[in-house]
Order: sequence, then C-alpha cells, then structure tokens
Amino acid sequence: MKENKKVSHIHTLEMIPANNLTEIQAKLIDLATKAADKAYAPYSNFLVGAAVALSDGQTFWANNQENISFPAGICAERVLLSYTHANFPELHPLTIAIVAKKPKNAGMASISPCGLCRQTISEYEMKFGSPIEILMVQPDGHVVKASGIDELLPFKFEDLNK
Ligand code: THU
Repeated sequence: MKENKKVSHIHTLEMIPANNLTEIQAKLIDLATKAADKAYAPYSNFLVGAAVALSDGQTFWANNQENISFPAGICAERVLLSYTHANFPELHPLTIAIVAKKPKNAGMASISPCGLCRQTISEYEMKFGSPIEILMVQPDGHVVKASGIDELLPFKFEDLNK
C-alpha cells in the first residue's frame, strides 16, 4: 500500500528565564499578576490575569469572570481582548501576558490559553495582519513565549471563501 503524504506542524516555543525579559514583557507580567488577584472565580478557584500592550503603547489588563451557569463564564484573555477591541478597534494587540494563581496565596499555577481564547487571539491577528506574542508565566517563574498564534493553534480554520 502506498504511504499517504504527511503534513507536519512543528513549532518551537521559547522558554524565557524571569531575569531575561524585556521591559514591556516584565511590565505586562506584573500587570497580569495583579489582575489575577482581582479575578472573579468562585467556582473554579483558578484565578487568571491577562495584560496586553497595544500598538500605541497603552497597556490594559483583565481577569476571568465566572458565572453560576458555568458556560457563561469568560476567560481573562477574552474579557481583555473584547474590551480593548471594543474601545480601540484601530489599535492592534502586540503582546499578551497570561498568569494563573491558586487562591489564598497558594502560589502560581501553570497556564496555557484554552481553545476559545486561541481562536480569539487568532481573530485579531487576522484582522490586523500581524502576529501577537503570547507570554505564559509558569509556576517556577520562567515564561513560555509563543511568537504568534500559529505556534499554539496550528492548522486552524481561517477562510470562509477558500
Ligand atoms: N481560564 C482563563 O481565564 N484563561 C485561560 O487561559 C484558561 C482558563 C479560566 C476559565 C475559568 O474561569 C477558570 O480559568 C478555570 O478553567
């Protein structure tokens, strides 16, 4: 039997030590860390903060907002990107940092955005035609960096008219 052709997606994420961040990366992580403390997550007790730098240099932050009807809850990344795009539709997001915490000073949790948030990040990359850097802070302090959503969402749905 003939072997089928293979399509491979190989992506390499960068692991940045906490002491090797740029100024803006460190600032966004700090903002996201503070935002996580204000998360409304009484059902999961998983506190997520996200912060974004927009193309004019402004920074914003948000956190997850849960609901007693669980599917109505919204992740930090989507609260944030919906807010910034609602208010600054002409500015593109350059970098987004994501931090997760366990409640009551129990420390940091590992974080990587969910599928819906990846699709949302992809939407704004497509709209603005430029990649969004994604920084995922890990419990030991190092940061996993994706240079764009393709590294987290390969072979994604893209074009309705292809
Ligand atoms: N959550 C986020 O806010 N961002 C992520 O990247 C992953 C998950 C939220 C959703 C829910 O409120 C809680 O974390 C547990 O899944």
